[in-house]
Amino acid sequence: MSLPPTDISPFRQRRARLLAHLRAQGGGIAVLPTAPAAVRNRDAEYPYRHDSDFYYLSGFIEPEAWLVLIAGADDRALLFCRPRHPEHETWEGVRCGPEAAAERYGFDEAHSIEALDQMLPELLLDQPALYAPSTPDDAQAARLRGWMAAARERARGGRRAPEQLRDLRGVVADMRLVKDPDEIAAMRRAARISAGAHARAMRAARPGMHEYELEAELLYEFRRHGAQAPAYTSIVAGGANACVLHYQAGDTVLHDGELVLIDAGCEFDSYASDITRTFPVNGRYSGPQRALYDLTLAAQDAAVQATRPGLSFNDGHLAAVRVLAQGLIDEKLLEGSLDGVLESGAYTRFYMHRTGHWLGLDVHDAGDYREPGAGGAERPWRQLRPGMVLTIEPGLYVRPSDDVPAHYWNIGIRIEDDALVTDTGCELLTRGVPVDAREIEALMRE
Ligand code: GLY
Ligand code: MN
Ligand code: MN
Repeated sequence: MSLPPTDISPFRQRRARLLAHLRAQGGGIAVLPTAPAAVRNRDAEYPYRHDSDFYYLSGFIEPEAWLVLIAGADDRALLFCRPRHPEHETWEGVRCGPEAAAERYGFDEAHSIEALDQMLPELLLDQPALYAPSTPDDAQAARLRGWMAAARERARGGRRAPEQLRDLRGVVADMRLVKDPDEIAAMRRAARISAGAHARAMRAARPGMHEYELEAELLYEFRRHGAQAPAYTSIVAGGANACVLHYQAGDTVLHDGELVLIDAGCEFDSYASDITRTFPVNGRYSGPQRALYDLTLAAQDAAVQATRPGLSFNDGHLAAVRVLAQGLIDEKLLEGSLDGVLESGAYTRFYMHRTGHWLGLDVHDAGDYREPGAGGAERPWRQLRPGMVLTIEPGLYVRPSDDVPAHYWNIGIRIEDDALVTDTGCELLTRGVPVDAREIEALMRE
């Protein structure tokens, strides 16, 4: 379970920025629900996780809440949340309640969630535009449609329901692309805890262990440092399992002579971290493992050098692919010239994913990878700016095949760090765990 924020000023500032943006577009009302709770089975629910956009603007972590922002001469921010309820609170814990929420979270007004159906149609009246998520879940979408219908019914005597329906997610996604200092502080903390967890797993690894035992080391380290949850299901993949990109930690035994790939990161105060390391179960890389490991690391280095303001999101990927493609030719895994291999895409047999993604409240964070404007998928890639955070995660995955030297079979390697774009380049937030092969071997000997 997440924790409420101690400082609400960043959330107020983000609301003010969003309202200024809406005003510049001619005004309107923004309506945003948090995520619904989800049943796991019968009376058991999944651990609750708020909607990231909703949290970004409110700081509010309870389920069953809606945010309403009205942009006009007199901006207003309203929260609708669960009322206090002594009996429910006995079972589920204390609720904030609207009386305390306005003051605690800096809203102009807070009301019971039970007042939504009555108040929303009225609030919609005379607003030129309604900004709402374009893809809310079905129940939430139905409520929005109902309020719009009720507003249209009430519209008379010169009053009007909003004529334009606009997507709110895209507007908030643009804001979330550049992190503010409070976000960066939480991300540093998440990164530090996750790096420690990877180092712990390296020290613990022994031939004969199961993947789930290393997963347990990670989870223990996340939680004992106050991280509220894993940011995504941990991947702990021994041997050939590393070649399955979305493998999850299972019950496979980790064998002497194999690599283990761990892709795991915690969520701290709602912010994700995302680290991958690949290391030898017995503490020593074999010759072929080391050759492909060093190649992947060289590709990551090239991508890190290409992660700086003035270059685009895609430049790191291009730099990594160039190094990997040349290395695959050198190692006789591919034939032909570098330009030929790049042009034909022959390298995608061994490297089939992209080199990174935005990181923030979501592990695959909000934010368009292309510059805004016309042109669809042909728009230019997003230029990097200080304060953006992205992962840099090249890999190589070699499945058994007659045309591949057998000593490379079943080697799957990925190296992933989290990069904060700075004024002059980028800072890797996750280097609290070693990445150099010799340093990893040294750590495993400890
Ligand atoms: N752990 C998810 C990813 O690397 O994209
Ligand atoms: Mn990632
Ligand atoms: Mn990852």
